Amino acid sequence: MPYEILIGRDDADKERFGDKGRIFIGKSYVKMRNHTSLSNPIYMDVARSHVVLISGKRGSGKSYSIGVMAEELANLPKEVNQNIAPLIFDTMGIFWTMKYKNEKDKMLLKDWDLKSMNLPIRVFVPYGKAEEYKSNQIPVDESFALKASELDIGDWLLTFNLGLIEPVSVLIETTLAKLQERKEFDIDDILQGVIQSIDRVSGFEIINLGESKTINLNDLIRIIEEIAGESIRKEFLPLQPGDVQQTYANIDKARSLLNYDPQTEMKAGLQKFYDWFINSKSS
Ligand SMILES: Nc1ncnc2c1ncn2[C@@H]1O[C@H](COP(=O)(O)OP(=O)(O)OP(=O)(O)O)[C@@H](O)[C@H]1O
Ligand SMILES: [Mg+2]
Repeated sequence: MPYEILIGRDDADKERFGDKGRIFIGKSYVKMRNHTSLSNPIYMDVARSHVVLISGKRGSGKSYSIGVMAEELANLPKEVNQNIAPLIFDTMGIFWTMKYKNEKDKMLLKDWDLKSMNLPIRVFVPYGKAEEYKSNQIPVDESFALKASELDIGDWLLTFNLGLIEPVSVLIETTLAKLQERKEFDIDDILQGVIQSIDRVSGFEIINLGESKTINLNDLIRIIEEIAGESIRKEFLPLQPGDVQQTYANIDKARSLLNYDPQTEMKAGLQKFYDWFINSKSS
């Protein structure tokens, strides 16, 4: 009787789990001249997580091996398989056939003491494709879609194979930044944002960056006195010809085009400037 091979489990776990939490993935084979015979059964540990690299040339059985693992996981006793949820991402669309009994290889399965059976899998297909697949007799359970608002700039750049500093990447990033304030948005909002920005950048724009809040000159002087801890000598004179009573920047255009939204209060800004000035003078 050939001994069992159990991959992915150390001696301590072998002791601990016995023949639980393992799947049967095949048999090794021995070659004697022209004769090949199957030998040791090979099991794989599924009680712990593993990274498994399945490699081989085209048609060598990589997908088949994944199918075997999924099938074995599904056939584990309930106490074990209720803790495992296998997810297979399949770009070729082959694993859905596991829903059906394998009638073709019935005889082969018998040799292995296996029965052909339907497996309890659920098939998800991309949203928008479900009808097409259904009409091609593919047993679709659900469709899925990625939520546009959950993708960050890195995901979009990866999707379209864009570099971080390409103009279009910057465009997508600024559009996302604006939309993220809303939390919920979809792909149409992103498209609209990008298209509006493209329309906007035809030609050039003159944009006023400033602040529309005004401050009384005496208040400004008082703040500077407070920050500097000095009292300023003041001399009050009549208005000069051409002086205006009040000036401020109209920043409506900057707000709508650039999402410009100045946050620094006068006093905090002056304090920062003062600190910078004192520090740069002393260093
Ligand atoms: N161990 C096996 N026993 C019986 N048939 C197998 C076995 N391995 C693979 N096959 C058969 O060989 C064919 C190719 O296998 P599979 O699709 O798994 O290859 P692959 O390595 O995933 O190929 P690709 O590179 O094209 O994705 C399939 O029809 C499969 O049923
Ligand atoms: Mg394959």
